Amino acid sequence: MESIVSVILAAGQGKRMQSSIPKVLHTVAGSPMLSYSLELAKSLGIKKRMVVLGPQAEKIKKEMSCTENGITYVYQEKQLGTAHAVQQTEPYLINFSGIVLILSADVPLLRTSTIQEMIHCHKNNQASCTLLTANLEQAEGYGRIIRNEQGKITGIIEQYDLIEEQEKIKEINSGIYCFNSKELFIALKMVNQNNYQKEYYLTDVIKILIEKGYLTVNITALDSEEITGINTRMDLSRVSRAFYQRNAFNHMLKGVTIIDPGNTYIENQVEIGQDTIIYPFTIITTGTEIGGSCHIGPYSHIINTCVGRGTRIYSSVVERSKIGNQTMIGPYAHIRPESIIGDEVRVGNYVEVKKSFIDKGSKVGHLTYLGDATLGKKVNIGAGTITCNFDGKKKNPTIIKDGVFIGSNNALVAPLTIGQDSYTAAGSTITQDIPTNTLGIARSGQKNIEGWTEKRNKKETK
Ligand code: UD1
Ligand code: CA
Repeated sequence: MESIVSVILAAGQGKRMQSSIPKVLHTVAGSPMLSYSLELAKSLGIKKRMVVLGPQAEKIKKEMSCTENGITYVYQEKQLGTAHAVQQTEPYLINFSGIVLILSADVPLLRTSTIQEMIHCHKNNQASCTLLTANLEQAEGYGRIIRNEQGKITGIIEQYDLIEEQEKIKEINSGIYCFNSKELFIALKMVNQNNYQKEYYLTDVIKILIEKGYLTVNITALDSEEITGINTRMDLSRVSRAFYQRNAFNHMLKGVTIIDPGNTYIENQVEIGQDTIIYPFTIITTGTEIGGSCHIGPYSHIINTCVGRGTRIYSSVVERSKIGNQTMIGPYAHIRPESIIGDEVRVGNYVEVKKSFIDKGSKVGHLTYLGDATLGKKVNIGAGTITCNFDGKKKNPTIIKDGVFIGSNNALVAPLTIGQDSYTAAGSTITQDIPTNTLGIARSGQKNIEGWTEKRNKKETK
């Protein structure tokens, strides 16, 4: 859309958040707040996306550069109000005469379809300004739409500047607008600071345009939740919840069972296959892909991980790893980053796996730590076994070949290689490589002292 540019207002300090982090970098369902309006503008096909930033500009640019490019950042030195923020974009739009779409970085729930409808309405009416409004039961905090007896919009009044009878007005300004560029920049020059907050309000442009005889129309957001602005941490949690719900419903529509969407937290950009069941109290973060017919949760945290088909992850934490098909993880397992776990593997109770590869059909059932290990196929790790991968200076690898049986309570001191089909005895501290088809025993031999108990008892009765 060459005839539309977008301006995202993001320079405000977000004082009400009580935070050292810029408001627009607070995450909403796993993505920084600002990314939502950028995505929205992109989804509309808008080429020129401008973001107005304030004192924390460098931090924000750096954070956003990981995911977004082709953005024009505009600097607002002092936060003198929303009109002043928009004014800073004028030098970038000197020869532009199309529509300026104003978005607010703190309104992330907005849908593309709503803005499409708004643009459509703006063009159809040949308006100078189109407002996105909503009717809210709890209108407090928002600017209110003022209408005359004929029902025509005459202006917007901010919360702080309302007179008593205006407080009853339920029709609010969402802070999202379409403006004709030329009229917008003329009107902006006429805005003053005569208000309670002594700021240059963008909302004053509407009154100015109307008084000059330009047409202002509005569309009403049918789903008023969409225009919720995030000003406080309470708003942040409310909006996040709405996203989790939205995401859960989208997955359900595609054939995923979510037992309790109110207690399931699926972030954006997650893929889940058909007939997978997600149990309550499960968090699935951005970038995760889960195959079909899996059971995930309850109480699981799946972080940016790829999971195959028919796998079960129960009460466990899995971070940046790859899990195969028909595999069982948990309960109470912790799979740490860069692990690859193959098909039909079992990682059981209280097992920690770090940067390890476990091949098909292997079992690590109980109370084990595997770090920097490579396990072949059908390996069995006895309960309580640990790899001693760290020598105090560096991490060393443990290689366990196909068909190996490690007895219970082994300490496998790396670097170490255990050959195919070999065994280790329970309780061993294995410090040397074991060739194939071999039993490794490394523990002190047992001595039985017969009649010892009797002798001891006699001593005590003397
Ligand atoms: C604004 C509207 C209000 C509307 C509400 C909807 C004005 C005066 N008021 O109020 O009518 O109901 O949004 O959510 O516009 N910003 C800057 N530079 C500044 C000031 C703000 O870039 O100097 C940015 C903020 O970062 C934010 C947006 O503009 O993203 C809105 O500012 P905010 O202070 O949150 O305005 P509200 O009081 O919510
Ligand atoms: Ca706001």
